[in-house]
Amino acid sequence: MLFRKDKTLLGLNIGSGYVKLVELKGSGSVYTLNNFGMAALPADAIVDGTVMDTTAIVSAIVNLAANLKIKKKRICTSISGHSVIVKKITLPLMDENTIEETIHQEATQHIPYDINDVNLDFQILGPNQTNPENMDVILVAVKKETINDYLLLVEDAGFVPVVVDVDTFALENSYEYNYEGEDKKIIALVDIGANLTCITILDEGVTCFSRNITSGSRLITEQLQKKFSLNYENAELLKMGCANSSKTKGTDALSAINEAAFSIVNEIGKAIDFFHNSAMTEGRVEKIILSGGGAKTPNIVQSITKNTNIETEIIDPFRNIIISEKQFDLEYIKTIAPMAAVATGLALRKDEAVR
Ligand SMILES: Nc1ncnc2c1ncn2[C@@H]1O[C@H](COP(=O)(O)OP(=O)(O)OP(=O)(O)O)[C@@H](O)[C@H]1O
Ligand SMILES: [Mg+2]
Repeated sequence: MLFRKDKTLLGLNIGSGYVKLVELKGSGSVYTLNNFGMAALPADAIVDGTVMDTTAIVSAIVNLAANLKIKKKRICTSISGHSVIVKKITLPLMDENTIEETIHQEATQHIPYDINDVNLDFQILGPNQTNPENMDVILVAVKKETINDYLLLVEDAGFVPVVVDVDTFALENSYEYNYEGEDKKIIALVDIGANLTCITILDEGVTCFSRNITSGSRLITEQLQKKFSLNYENAELLKMGCANSSKTKGTDALSAINEAAFSIVNEIGKAIDFFHNSAMTEGRVEKIILSGGGAKTPNIVQSITKNTNIETEIIDPFRNIIISEKQFDLEYIKTIAPMAAVATGLALRKDEAVR
């Protein structure tokens, strides 16, 4: 081939706090960052994973893409929250075709929604460890209505939605690409977003446990609002100021942040305990990888390490991605890195239509 076609899609992560866009260049195994940007959304634009204010989100995407001078049209985006259910189930041994025929029936027992309202997908993990006549399967159900809402958002913003993924799968993708060859067997990916915290446990790279906690870093902002009678914007600034300066003026603010964060830390610990106590595996989580803006909360790494007794670190979604010093402010990229993890995982998806 004379010309290498660019096989990447634009990664668009529509979070409830920020919209993030990542564009990579490359095909094969080496990628270069071509574009990155994020834009804040009004607090009520996405509530509990549901699109509430289409206009605000569309204009945030349009403006962001214009500022970044994005030319590419084909997008990979993702969904999270209660519209997505990822569950490990056990089925009698059967081939893939038989599962396809029976998965609807099976799913009715595991999904709290009308089965006609969701898109189903599955992945066979392999024989069950305790009963070899059974096998483990990962069941994925996503509400059709939510997929539609996200497709419309992307189209309204003038882009072509090619793939609608799931946030946590994109995060897995990002981790796999950047941490290839890590020797840890069981790791927990913990994404602390604005309104949602997602815990995904990978056993040799395969999801074996998944849980959402329905609060995130915004809880901390709200706590600061209450405690210091601030509006949302000023409380956000206070939170970020505390995160960014080691010598904080407001010790009160710092302790309020730590207090508010503790409930999230505690829930993370409980979810991991639940995983350890369930019969799912003998193994234990060897490392926690934090992502999302909540990973930037002061003291949160230490707090999670202390609570769980598990080594914890913040993800670097650009670890194996080439970033030109001429094109980007590396300090800025380092600062926002944990928030870019999902979008980077999306941007790493191949455009199957381009051959
Ligand atoms: N420097 C910082 N210090 C503390 N918190 C921060 C900092 N930067 C961002 N945050 C917080 O991180 C959150 C945004 O993180 P992120 O972009 O991962 O969320 P999101 O993907 O938009 O939300 P969700 O996934 O919950 O829908 C906001 O609540 C913001 O206040
Ligand atoms: Mg998010």
